[in-house]
Amino acid sequence: MQNDFIKLAPSILAADFAHLGEQVAEAERAGADRIHVDVMDGHFVPNIAIGAPIVQSLRRITHLPMETHLMISDPDFFLDEFAEAGSTSFLVHWEGNNNLHRTVQRIKTLGKRAGVAINPATPASVLEEILPDLDQVLVMTVNPGFGHQQFLQSTLHKIQRVAQMIGQIRPDCELEVDGGIDEATAPMVVAAGANVLVAGTSIFAADKSVAAAMESLRDAVSQIAR
Ligand code: DX5
Ligand code: ZN
Repeated sequence: MQNDFIKLAPSILAADFAHLGEQVAEAERAGADRIHVDVMDGHFVPNIAIGAPIVQSLRRITHLPMETHLMISDPDFFLDEFAEAGSTSFLVHWEGNNNLHRTVQRIKTLGKRAGVAINPATPASVLEEILPDLDQVLVMTVNPGFGHQQFLQSTLHKIQRVAQMIGQIRPDCELEVDGGIDEATAPMVVAAGANVLVAGTSIFAADKSVAAAMESLRDAVSQIAR
């Protein structure tokens, strides 16, 4: 089966910030399905990155959905700000959130798509009760906090399990993967059940143009049987 349904979400963490607008525009022209924005607070993860003003600026130059991956403590405090800036969906982590259901409901009240992300050491089973409320699940295929890390093969089995759960509980929910996705690993995650690929380094820091890098990724998964 041809995998035309695989979506690409270029992660601007790996972009050249001196040319961010141009790189996002290039990704849009090359058929990106959405832009992935990584937000880090130096506390939830050992790195800092990207605040709402960047989303606000990009909102003026792209029509693409902007999904916002909140790798921060207390994400509830920042939902309004990012929503006003132009975020279209939020990916919040299961880890460290004692009130995940409330966070997800807040996102939906804001009229945004809701996703939950799980780290490599977090089992798929934690998603079971929240899954009916979700538009997206994000399986981290590296430990969050940095781009350009090596894909963790141990997450493949979990992707399969999450795909099964989605099939049984919430078939419309997207299964997204994030971290170390390139031409070599994309076929593995798609075969395991992923249908949205986040990619930073392999799109914005490849030895080819953004458009050519996206084409390579699409080619890599085009014939994967599901
Ligand atoms: C990592 C971020 C990713 C990151 C992926 O914590 O959540 O979105 O940008 O980067 P690559 O594709 O370089 O692994
Ligand atoms: Zn991310």
